[in-house]
Amino acid sequence: MKATHKPVISSTGLFTPAESISNAELVESFNAYVAKFNIDNADAIEAGEVEALAPSSVEFIEKASGIKARHVMAKEPVLDIDTMSPRWPERSNDELSMMAEIGVRAAKQALETAGRDVKDVDAVLCAASNMERGYPAMAIEIQQALGINGFGFDMNVACSSATFGIQTAADYIRAGNAKSVLVVSPEITSGHLNWRDRDSHFIFGDVATAVLVEDAAIAPEEHWDILGTKLKTVFSNNIRNNFGFLNRASPEGEGKADKLFVQEGRKVFKEVVPMVASMIVEEAERLGVDPESIRRLWLHQANTGMNRLIAHRVLGHEANEDESPTVLDTYGNTSSAGSIIAFHLHSKDLKANDTGLICSFGAGYSAGTVFVRKVN
Ligand code: COA
Repeated sequence: MKATHKPVISSTGLFTPAESISNAELVESFNAYVAKFNIDNADAIEAGEVEALAPSSVEFIEKASGIKARHVMAKEPVLDIDTMSPRWPERSNDELSMMAEIGVRAAKQALETAGRDVKDVDAVLCAASNMERGYPAMAIEIQQALGINGFGFDMNVACSSATFGIQTAADYIRAGNAKSVLVVSPEITSGHLNWRDRDSHFIFGDVATAVLVEDAAIAPEEHWDILGTKLKTVFSNNIRNNFGFLNRASPEGEGKADKLFVQEGRKVFKEVVPMVASMIVEEAERLGVDPESIRRLWLHQANTGMNRLIAHRVLGHEANEDESPTVLDTYGNTSSAGSIIAFHLHSKDLKANDTGLICSFGAGYSAGTVFVRKVN
């Protein structure tokens, strides 16, 4: 089939872990940890050498973020106050690794939905906030598990990894280097979340998504034209994780809180909202799309307040759930997968010629927009 060099989204896939933690369960565990810490350190706290920990609250979490629950790969050890971290037995090199396993689950759904034979897929991009190991690339393991020829590589742009992956895949189609590219985002964020940190213990959840980006020539009848993609990065320390392979060069810092996710949430909120809102409006103008005509926004899922403000600035009015659906209430912040979950769960009802926007934003800072139009 002759390539059109026009990139489209043929299908998406979603893997949701079976276990979920409600805010009530999370806060009960966190507050039990706080009570124990304060008793264990009572003398030092009394002497002013150690600061007492403050409890968390369900009301705060729901009001400040909109999050009510999150799925996780391993619930019990996360809630166990002696562990407060995911745990599972180490896997041998002959077994599929955890990230690859859930990535494959999401990818298979995307392939099945599009009716795509793996023989016709050219590349796999694993686009996520954290990689399970240095190498070999997660993408190559996923590629092998699916039986795909061609090539794969990993890319990490934190919360914007999936949209950066979609643009990269779209560019392969535009350049004629590929006709079918899988963008897989397995986000096991429970591994980078500091479950003992009151400011952030409620934020993240685990999930995997997949997006099949293809040349229009081979796409299934029902698909989404990609009208345009735009990426932006601006360096910021306000969301940071210093975990890395050079940690062992400075052993004094190993195990410290900065080797997990840390953020200045209020600054992020204030700085990212205007940056993303103007990026969307400028990109809409470049593409000749009237922002007020955008039928649906599938926004990054970090905070309902941020999404409300961004949607208002773009659409010119307060958006309802139909215009800007929320998934973070049950998924939490799933990093790069959030906007893709929203698109996967809330796009089937749109009609031919409806225009929508997938938009991510987060650490880096990084932001990505993917304008799409429903075909059939
Ligand atoms: N339970 C109860 N109270 C808490 C709490 C908790 N778990 N965590 C913090 N608080 C308290 C603080 O101590 C503070 O109290 P004070 O006013 O007496 O000092 C108050 O609540 C407000 O804290 P703050 O951290 O300023 O909250 P916030 O309103 O900014 O909400 C976030 C925090 C993280 C929900 C919010 O900033 C956010 O979502 N930001 C955007 C984050 C984002 O998009 N990140 C991208 C990540 S990929």
